[in-house]
Amino acid sequence: MAQEPVRVLVTGAAGQIGYALVPMIARGVLLGPNQPVILHMLDIPPAAESLNGVKMELVDAAFPLLKGVVATTDVVEACTGVNIAIMVGGFPRKEGMERKDVMSKNVSIYKAQASALEKHAAANCKVLVVANPANTNALILKEFAPSIPERNISCLTRLDHNRALGQISERLNVQVSEVKNVIIWGNHSSTQYPDVNHATVKLSSGEEKSVRELVADDAWLNGEFISTVQQRGAAIIKARKLSSALSAASAACDHIRDWVLGTPEGTWVSMGVYSDGSYNVPAGLIYSFPVTCRDGEWSIVQGLSIDEFSRKKLDLTAEELTEEKALAYSCLS
Ligand code: NAD
Ligand code: LMR
Repeated sequence: MAQEPVRVLVTGAAGQIGYALVPMIARGVLLGPNQPVILHMLDIPPAAESLNGVKMELVDAAFPLLKGVVATTDVVEACTGVNIAIMVGGFPRKEGMERKDVMSKNVSIYKAQASALEKHAAANCKVLVVANPANTNALILKEFAPSIPERNISCLTRLDHNRALGQISERLNVQVSEVKNVIIWGNHSSTQYPDVNHATVKLSSGEEKSVRELVADDAWLNGEFISTVQQRGAAIIKARKLSSALSAASAACDHIRDWVLGTPEGTWVSMGVYSDGSYNVPAGLIYSFPVTCRDGEWSIVQGLSIDEFSRKKLDLTAEELTEEKALAYSCLS
């Protein structure tokens, strides 16, 4: 029997990430090669013409899985009936703007879009926030959409997770697909903690070895590796004069695909999710944890040992998120 199409919302669809993301969704990268999709694309009126151009290109690409396209500047039309919402739209930082000004613009957008999703999305809609500040935008969305289960609201730290895998793969000269179980803890910001203490590599002999043992250079793993992953977004902006787009779009697909279809046995991924106090991370923050997914639900991996070095880093990024939360609320009051 033919599968019913899944409705996927992409906000900010006329932007850079949107332009990389919508063809991936239409090709089956998000939900697999047999799942038809209907794309809902939202942007703001100044981008309406450009958004329509993206719609024209989607038609021209004749994607077999793409069963329809809604391109709109109306948030209610965009949110109606969606099963998955990928929130990329946001206000970029401009010259002369303070952090608080950017935060203020974005949390207002996420408060408004929370209400539209709550009222008009399909029951059990899964939400991924990509736009920065991703964790705090997701938290605001959660707080202002109280009828959406908190388990359904997440933010993107899979890009940081993939960046960590990439750095280890380059350093050890092994295929990236053979590296697993790195962790991104905390905020999608430069305080995030990329942790390799539980990461492993599958060698060509089939044997699995720990990354720490193979790298055999704690100074690099506790220093340059961490700062390279933390600063990778800034390095991309410096090189491209634009922020990461293809890697962000690809990571967004990885995040949703694993959430919906499940993580491979013995492998975890990083997702920004609502903290329940695991690992003594304050409850009530959207914080990146190691998770496994099954039957469309994520669970935080429990029982990992946290040494003193890691503890400080988990706490530092939690402190930043607590401050961001307070700042976001002060912007809304
Ligand atoms: P962009 O400026 O190219 O695109 C953003 C789009 O959002 C624009 O088309 C804009 O018109 C639209 N927009 C603005 N306000 C909107 C609203 N209220 N509703 C709907 N659309 C709206 O930016 P981009 O490069 O695509 O990046 C998008 C966001 O993703 C930025 O906040 C960026 O910092 C963030 N980002 C996050 C990650 C991550 O890993 N979490 C990685 C890369 C980028
Ligand atoms: C990234 O990690 O590439 C982005 O979040 C950077 C940014 O500030 O847009």
